[in-house]
Amino acid sequence: MKIFDEIESEVQSYARAFPRVFNKAKGELLFDNDGNEYLDFLAGAGTLNYGHNNPLFKETLIQYIQDDGITHGLDMHTKAKGEFLETFNEKILKPRNLDYVVQFTGPTGTNAVEAALKLARNIKGRENIIAFTNGFHGVSLGALAATGNSHHRGAAGVSLSGTSRMPYDGYLGDDIDTTEYLEKVLSDSSSGIDKPAAVIVETVQGEGGINAASFDWLRNLDKVCKKHDVLLIIDDIQAGCGRTGTYFSFEEAGIYPDMVTLSKSLGGYGLPFAVVLFKPELDQWKPGEHNGTFRGNNFAFVTAKAAIDHYWSDDAFSKDILRKGEYVAERLESIIAQYGEGNFSAKGRGMFRGINCVNGDLAGKITKNCFKNGLIIETSGADDQIVKFFCPLIISDENLKKGLDIVESAIKEVCAKEDSIPEDTDYFDDVRVDH
Ligand SMILES: Cc1ncc(COP(=O)(O)O)c(C=O)c1O
Repeated sequence: MKIFDEIESEVQSYARAFPRVFNKAKGELLFDNDGNEYLDFLAGAGTLNYGHNNPLFKETLIQYIQDDGITHGLDMHTKAKGEFLETFNEKILKPRNLDYVVQFTGPTGTNAVEAALKLARNIKGRENIIAFTNGFHGVSLGALAATGNSHHRGAAGVSLSGTSRMPYDGYLGDDIDTTEYLEKVLSDSSSGIDKPAAVIVETVQGEGGINAASFDWLRNLDKVCKKHDVLLIIDDIQAGCGRTGTYFSFEEAGIYPDMVTLSKSLGGYGLPFAVVLFKPELDQWKPGEHNGTFRGNNFAFVTAKAAIDHYWSDDAFSKDILRKGEYVAERLESIIAQYGEGNFSAKGRGMFRGINCVNGDLAGKITKNCFKNGLIIETSGADDQIVKFFCPLIISDENLKKGLDIVESAIKEVCAKEDSIPEDTDYFDDVRVDH
């Protein structure tokens, strides 16, 4: 099909890595126009945790459409929205002792982030937001200012302001707790870091390279925020909805963030849907202050409710994700022990994992080789150096093994052709001055 080259913008990205025309999908499988089958370890960048065309939600959605249910409702009260809210409250929030108000934003993750930052700034009357190295929060201007990636930031066309950058967990090495640095600069009126309204953070950085913060670090971050009257915003757009094994990625850390952004797999069926959750006392919006035409995607409310009813009424799904995550972790450990001359490393938690292949050239060769063998898998990280394992959570054990086998063979083949595998840079060794 030439039409994509003829009139679709150069801004395309995933289409370049996977240059086929896809026309069918089921569970963890995608099919192209020529009838070729692919295992999908990309999963709509985290939107398809429950797989493509999940039959449980499909039937519900078809029935809703056949009954002439509301499709679009601005922010009006609809039956579908009410039922989603009830289910979300009863099965997700209450069992976790989370008391949150739900704000429906425009249906993209970046819009939920915009709303959270705006609300935090208005509540605290402060402009500055602390964001972290390698963080990714979206590409609209407010969210982009909190995003680290220079490729995305470079396209802004205006200065990106109102944020200060702090080192994420592990950024300065395993032995340094970077929340101590944050604590120091917030305690020092001469640090040059303006007192922030909020801190925004991912518990596992997805686009930034599958960097998983430790639970201790998250708890310390929470403490620093509380001590300095700064709001803690967890951006759970990619890590949430079960990806790490629990519904919210911060549950195991035992923290209760002031605000949470959710999108991607929230709608369940790949339908656009985003929300911000915040503590009731933070609900200081005036009517319509943050609006948007598409805040009432009722199809997404229907499938989101079905997803929660089916997968989150008990802990069976959560246990299954953790079990599969352990299997992926074991396989990744075995792969890095065999290939990469000891320079590769495994990263992440739950079903949110990756292999650091040191540079983007190597990782790109590996994912290309995978694609030739029927596996769709992407890279992430500052240099695209991480091979990112992001299959639907509902994947069968058989296909999970098959996908990992394809990656293992790809790594074996690519590494065999390399003269040597580069070592990961130790920045502190490089810059240390000998006296
Ligand atoms: C953590 C996080 N926040 C925000 C976003 C932005 O979401 P969207 O692309 O839907 O605007 C993403 C997208 O990948 C993300 O991973």
